[in-house]
Amino acid sequence: MVRVKTSKRVLVIGNGGREHAIAWKLAKDGAEVLVAPGNGGTLETAENVAVAAGDIPALVDLAKRRAVDLTVVGPEAPLVAGVVDAFEAEGLRIFGPSAAAARLEGSKLFCKKILHRGDVPTAPFHEFRSVAAAREFAKAREGEPMVVKVDGLAAGKGVFVCRDGDEAVRALDTLAGEKSLASAAGGILIEEKLDGVEVSVMAITDGHAIVTLPPLQDHKAAHDGDVGPNTGGMGAYCPTPFVDAALLAEIEERILVPTVHAMKRSKVPFYGVLYAGLMLTAQGPKVLEFNARFGDPECEALLVRMDSSLLELLDAAVDRRLDSVAPPAWRPGASVTVVMASEGYPGEVTRSGPIRGLAAAAGRGGVQVFHAATKLLDGRVVSSGGRVLAVTATGESLGKAKLAAYSAVREIRWDGAWCRKDIADKGLARERVIAAQSDGAVAATTDGTTTD
Ligand code: AMP
Ligand code: GLY
Repeated sequence: MVRVKTSKRVLVIGNGGREHAIAWKLAKDGAEVLVAPGNGGTLETAENVAVAAGDIPALVDLAKRRAVDLTVVGPEAPLVAGVVDAFEAEGLRIFGPSAAAARLEGSKLFCKKILHRGDVPTAPFHEFRSVAAAREFAKAREGEPMVVKVDGLAAGKGVFVCRDGDEAVRALDTLAGEKSLASAAGGILIEEKLDGVEVSVMAITDGHAIVTLPPLQDHKAAHDGDVGPNTGGMGAYCPTPFVDAALLAEIEERILVPTVHAMKRSKVPFYGVLYAGLMLTAQGPKVLEFNARFGDPECEALLVRMDSSLLELLDAAVDRRLDSVAPPAWRPGASVTVVMASEGYPGEVTRSGPIRGLAAAAGRGGVQVFHAATKLLDGRVVSSGGRVLAVTATGESLGKAKLAAYSAVREIRWDGAWCRKDIADKGLARERVIAAQSDGAVAATTDGTTTD
């Protein structure tokens, strides 16, 4: 009898919590999953292959050698470096944007040009070719809040939100002294500081159709109450009550669809995950930034709620037939992801050590512990970086999901481990406001008065 290969072989590129969640979900969808290079958690459901996410020739070779049917790219760096172009040149199927389209994330100036072309709401900005010119501009506007941005991938370090011109001048002085930032800079932008609530909305697109995913909220500041240094994200929850169905439809119509069209008209069609970082301002949602891939930790909170097949969706996107698949199905209720980090993060992390309690945490109902920076050493899982775990739980409500996630967090220990204690609290507060408003509306209606 001839054995027929039944499952698809998928390669996931990357080694963080996002990639663990993608690998976990694709394995659940029936795929045989390889992860390059993966981490101590991806080993549970996939095969780790020791190829770095940045080694494009070796990744192409791996996909060919192992007859991979579909490759999914996690992080932005390989996208910007052209991994999709390299795979497609070899006739290999891969989910993600080309290097030219990934500039939507890689270059803030390119992003602004596309937003302008699509008439998409965003903060007005000025562009400068030198630090000196930007400094002069900031100095002349000492009382105004503003945001200084370096054009180029700067791993979250290229944005300075400033209360006034003086602070902006100091930020520009810091910038001038930082070699790593100066070399990433293709230019400098100074834009208007927007006020409001920040949310993340992602969509999968094949350049023609788009599938908008449930809205989330990330927590970028290191400490409770949104204070402290900026991080890659300390936790997320899904869906966020700051974006109701009507607002999500508006975001799709005014932001996501026009961006996809503007990319097409600019001859850089966008395929992959279009991630909009949005500020919900008094004048409506405005784009802070676009990313060209799933957010991390948003991806972890999103995928635990996905009841339908991610594999089918990504396959359809790669074949440019997204309009032929049914919209994804989502588990009712909510999910919460709490990132557990090492001592020192987001600064330098000097220690790594064995992690205890992983099995007890994972044994709790509705809990998935995604690994962000771990490795297996002598049969034990040890921490190997700053953001170590993305402890994720689903629940019937946001409150229950939060409780479940933090109960799992309490099972896990390593020297110096810490996390924010307030993930999802802004969402819970918003739910209370909505409930009070609808109670008020019911009371007003039964009073015989109008609710408007
Ligand atoms: P980015 O790296 O572009 O995502 O920016 C990092 C963070 O800076 C965002 O998550 C926002 O919190 C903040 N930010 C960026 N642009 C603005 C803006 N125009 N107004 C206010 N905050 C901003
Ligand atoms: N969580 C934000 C990002 O992935 O860029």
